[in-house]
Order: sequence, then structure tokens, then C-alpha cells
Amino acid sequence: MGKIYRNILVTGGAGFIGSNFVLMLANEYPQINVINLDALTYAGNLDNISMLLDKKNHHFIHGNICNRELVKEILQNYEIDGIINFAAESHVDRSIKNPGIFIETNVMGTSILLDEAEKTGITRFLQVSTDEVYGSLGKTGKFTEDLPLEPNSPYSASKASADLICRAFYKTYALDIITTRCSNNYGPYQFPEKMLPLMINNALNDKALPVYGDGLHIRDWLYVYDHCTAIWAAFCRGKTGEIYNIGGCNEKTNLEVIIALLECLDKPQSLISFVKDRPGHDRRYAIDATKTMHDLDWSPSVIFQEGLEKTIDWYLTHPDWISKIISGEYKTYYKEMYNV
Ligand code: NAD
Ligand code: TYD
Repeated sequence: MGKIYRNILVTGGAGFIGSNFVLMLANEYPQINVINLDALTYAGNLDNISMLLDKKNHHFIHGNICNRELVKEILQNYEIDGIINFAAESHVDRSIKNPGIFIETNVMGTSILLDEAEKTGITRFLQVSTDEVYGSLGKTGKFTEDLPLEPNSPYSASKASADLICRAFYKTYALDIITTRCSNNYGPYQFPEKMLPLMINNALNDKALPVYGDGLHIRDWLYVYDHCTAIWAAFCRGKTGEIYNIGGCNEKTNLEVIIALLECLDKPQSLISFVKDRPGHDRRYAIDATKTMHDLDWSPSVIFQEGLEKTIDWYLTHPDWISKIISGEYKTYYKEMYNV
């Protein structure tokens, strides 16, 4: 039987994937205490976890992973026995405009967490990474864990740097580290700067859907709940020092995804508008998750059409969540980003 974890520090648990993860833990493993450290950047949102805020097994701390003193205090005071690091700046387009904060949070923040974990003697540290660290694929082949890291955006370069620091802490200090690298997620609570919720929101408002370049870039989509179950499997059953790719074998061009969502919403394809391509835009991502499926006994449970319908349904039934977000900083971001 594996180790039993009691007090887990989850960072970035008010963001998209982190909030889905803490909600899953609270529902399925109520005996575990989650200490949720989040800086509440533009992407962090307490509304995502409002149902947990008065629960005894969830402690929210508003703070930054770059704050060494705070991290040290949390590790000691809450007797943390495992860390799952979701906290990050996560949007490629923002990293192109302002790379500095990506280096600060994703590289410096991760190294502070590792450093303090090592000093406190924390047993297990899971770094939530991304398939984007591998760079871009040609027409064939898939990402396997042994490929070299060839990141192309400031975002992916900052995540690759964090992965390498994790590797160094494992090799040098024998820190108990697992790294997971997942493909593109979609589902409830995703901030509408990312492709899928942005397109859903625009389509609902009969606004143009800005497709970069020719729209034939390929992403390998995974429903967020399946990512969460894979992270938990890796945290509980993964082997120290190993890297696990996570994906759903679900490659689609951006146009295929957008046409499918327009069909679900009964909106016309005339809303599609081809715009200037993203600089350094990776052409294709595809994950080989054989190792994770085999070694961790994990498999995805939601097929794309079902996940897409669930996601659209969630945005349709949470108009307040989305309208609160798009009334704030998002408006300025959207204007600057899309020149409208
Ligand atoms: P997100 O942007 O929705 O959420 C990030 C969260 O981290 C926010 O709540 C934010 O407030 C918090 N945060 C940011 N800087 C912080 C700091 N310095 N200290 C503490 N908290 C901070 O991101 P997401 O899409 O949920 O991604 C979560 C993780 O998963 C990231 O590490 C990302 O690289 C990785 N990932 C994302 C995807 C995807 O498709 N979204 C795929 C693979 C891996
Ligand atoms: P995104 O959600 O930003 O994820 P990532 O770049 O990390 O894969 O983008 C997914 C794909 O959608 C990517 O190929 C870029 C494309 N895209 C658009 O065509 N238009 C947009 O407005 C956005 C945000 C993304």
C-alpha cells in the first residue's frame, strides 16, 4: 500500500486546473487536508472554489509562491507532507507580450518551493508541467517522455526550465519528485483567454471567432477531470524522479474544434475570422501516454464530443461567472490582443 498523505499543499488551486483538482480531492478524498496557496492573479478566482471556503479540510491562503518566508511558514505550520505545484502564469500569448513574470513565477517560484521542500524534508513534490516543453511536432510522431526539451514560447521555456530544476533537485538532493506533462485541457472554470472558452463566449455573443493563421494547428485535447485523475495517480503511485505524459489521444485542428463548438451552439461558421498568426506558433502537439496508462493504471474517461458538450453546458449555465470576468481586466486584454 502507498503512503497516506494528510496535509497536501496545492499551489494555484484557484485557477482552472487547480480548482478542478481541489474540488475533486474534496469530493473524493475528504480525509485529506488541502492547503491551497494562490496569489489570485487575473487568472485566480475564488468563485471557482466558493463551495470549499468554509470546509474544514480546505484552507485557502492568499499568497505568492515566490514569497520564501510564507512558503516556509506554511510547510511547517500545516505539517505539509506533499506538494502539488499548479501555480503558474499559463497563457502563451501573454508570455509573448510580457515574459518577465513567467520567469518569476514559473522558474523562481518553483525553485523556491523546491528549495523549501528540501529543507523541510517534504516527502513528495509533483510538478504540473506541460507537453509544450517538447516543442512542436511535424506531421507524424508523438511526444514521449525521453524526447529532448525544445520549448518555443517564453511560457514553454519557463515551464521547461522549472522541469530541469526539478530534475536537478531529484538528482542532487534525492528529493521525491514526479513531473507530469499534459496536453491542452478544457472544461469548467477555464479563463476565457484560452482558445475554447474564448470561442464559446464570442459565439454566444455573436462576436467574431479569431482563428490564428490557417487554423490547421493541432492540439491534443483532454477533459480537465481526466488530467486531475492522472495527476492524483502520479502523486500516489508514481515512481520518484519519473516523468509522466498525460493525454487523451485526441488530436484535432483548431478549426475542427471550433466548427464542432459552433454546431453544438447552433451558430453559423460565418463567425470564424482568420487573424494574424501567433509568433512562434507550435504547429502540432500529440501525446504518447502509454507509460502513464500502463505504469499508473490510468486512462481518460471522457470522450471529446461528450467533454465539449459538458463544457458548453457549464458555460451556458454559469453566465455570472463569465460576465464577472469579462467585465474587468479582460476587456483591456482583449482589446490590446485582438485590436478591436
Ligand atoms: P491558470 O492560469 O488558470 O491558473 C493559474 C493559477 O496560479 C491561478 O489561480 C493564479 O492565481 C495562480 N498563480 C499564478 N502565479 C502565482 C504565484 N506566483 N503564486 C501563487 N499562485 C499563483 O492555469 P491552468 O490552466 O489552471 O494551469 C495550471 C498548471 O497546469 C500550470 O502550471 C500550467 O502550466 C499547467 N498546464 C496547463 C494546461 C492547460 O491546458 N491549461 C496543460 C498542461 C499543463
Ligand atoms: P491556447 O488555448 O492559447 O493554448 P496553447 O497555445 O497553450 O496550445 O490555444 C490553443 C490553440 O488555439 C493554439 O493553436 C492557438 C489557437 N488560438 C487561436 O487560434 N485563436 C485564439 O484566439 C487563441 C487564444 C488561440
